Amino acid sequence: MADLSINFAGIKAPNPFWLASAPPTNSGYQVMKAFDAGWGGAVWKTLGVPVVNVSSRYGTMNYRDNRMVGFNNIELITDRPLADNLREIEEVKKHFPDHAVIASLMVESKAEWHQIIKDCENAGADGIELNFGCPHGMCERGMGSAVGQEPDVLRTIVKWVMEAANIPVITKLSPNISHITDPGIAAVEGGTDALSLVNTFKSIVGIDLDSYAPYPTVDGQGTNGGYCGPAVKPIALNMVKELAQHEVTMNTPISGIGGIETWRDVVEYILLGATSVQVCTSVMHYGFGIVREMEKGLTDFMDAKGYDTIYDFAGKALPNVKEWKDLNLKHKVIAEIDDDKCIGCQLCYIACEDGAHQAIALPENGSRVPAIIEDNCVGCNLCSIVCPVEECITMVKRDDGTEHVTWAERTAKGDIPDSFNDQRGGGVGHYVPKPEEALKNRKPYGKV
Ligand SMILES: Cc1cc2nc3c(=O)[nH]c(=O)nc-3n(C[C@H](O)[C@H](O)[C@H](O)COP(=O)(O)O)c2cc1C
Ligand code: SF4
Ligand code: SF4
Repeated sequence: MADLSINFAGIKAPNPFWLASAPPTNSGYQVMKAFDAGWGGAVWKTLGVPVVNVSSRYGTMNYRDNRMVGFNNIELITDRPLADNLREIEEVKKHFPDHAVIASLMVESKAEWHQIIKDCENAGADGIELNFGCPHGMCERGMGSAVGQEPDVLRTIVKWVMEAANIPVITKLSPNISHITDPGIAAVEGGTDALSLVNTFKSIVGIDLDSYAPYPTVDGQGTNGGYCGPAVKPIALNMVKELAQHEVTMNTPISGIGGIETWRDVVEYILLGATSVQVCTSVMHYGFGIVREMEKGLTDFMDAKGYDTIYDFAGKALPNVKEWKDLNLKHKVIAEIDDDKCIGCQLCYIACEDGAHQAIALPENGSRVPAIIEDNCVGCNLCSIVCPVEECITMVKRDDGTEHVTWAERTAKGDIPDSFNDQRGGGVGHYVPKPEEALKNRKPYGKV
């Protein structure tokens, strides 16, 4: 049976499922409830300087019948007294000595950093996480993403922290930056023990069409917030990969955060190099109980693949994540429709006709099952993505696998197109209908 326990940069936990610093870790009550439900660690709601919050605080991106696909907040760090939080951290550690309690911190001066680190160590925290991420409110006061966006300042603060800290330090990065490796490298140069990412993305989730104010509205006005939830997972995964592949940051443990809701999300983060994960939005949506599915799913996955610990497969996808120039140009797939599964909705036809390469024909025999025009199909995947029936359109391999040539190799050999008419160009000679064919079956506007 798989052993889910971890030692993350010296922080031990019974499993890699941690709560991210956010409302679910606002109090000892919640953290104890979460540990009891199965979470292995919790990053406490950020402690720091006194703040005042506004109401309302949250906005959302709902997509059709799915609520909270993306989630946006304008709340600040904890507004509870520091002494109360420290006392509750101590209490949680007494009840759950083997679980990881990490204090998230955000203060300004070197003296304040040194003092709060000492306070957290005295309270029994297993580690600290530096919050250089909040893209609203705190950055206007020179903290949060104001630090995360300035690698030199970040490096200096990490150094201050490392002078004082006797417990492991995780530097949490802001994604509001062009190259995540810049602050990642600065944190490693500053001496951090680990990295975590992502914090939230600066965002406006929508505008109220009566008051003309952004959501969430505060007395008829609003501000940019921090975006998170399932919608940000692809961007966060890529950032984790960037750090896991960079020569300076690759040996520093990474805690992956962003849009994690199921065991599959957890496995994907681990495959890209994370060795713990943190969750906020999906717990705010569904509660602490979601960890049960994560634990069962991760255990089943590891048992099925024969992995004893998560370190057996951490980073296993990284060798397959290449630069575009290193992909095989000789690999060819085309779409194939399974007539027996097709329900005749013709979504594939309209997607390929209007949005891709006019490689699907409508049937003329009274059936509703479309047909792929193989010569026109470039193997883009669009039809198989829009098809609502699982495994109805599959992408089948058409090359025999014997050839492997990349753009980088062709460039090295000087074998790349040097004009638009060069026969070595990818799209030269590929069929597209003549422009006037677009108007052939035109009906007067308003007639069907
Ligand atoms: C309402 C709310 C409050 C948050 N507060 C904090 C905070 O105090 N400190 C911090 O480091 N991150 C904070 N975060 C960011 C989360 O810890 C996490 O990095 C982010 O939400 C991405 O994870 P998710 O997609 O699972 O929500 C907050 C997020 C939300 C939604
Ligand atoms: S989208 Fe799928 S189900 Fe619909 S017509 Fe195309 S193949 Fe058939
Ligand atoms: S794979 Fe792309 S080009 Fe080929 S049929 Fe589907 S949508 Fe059209």
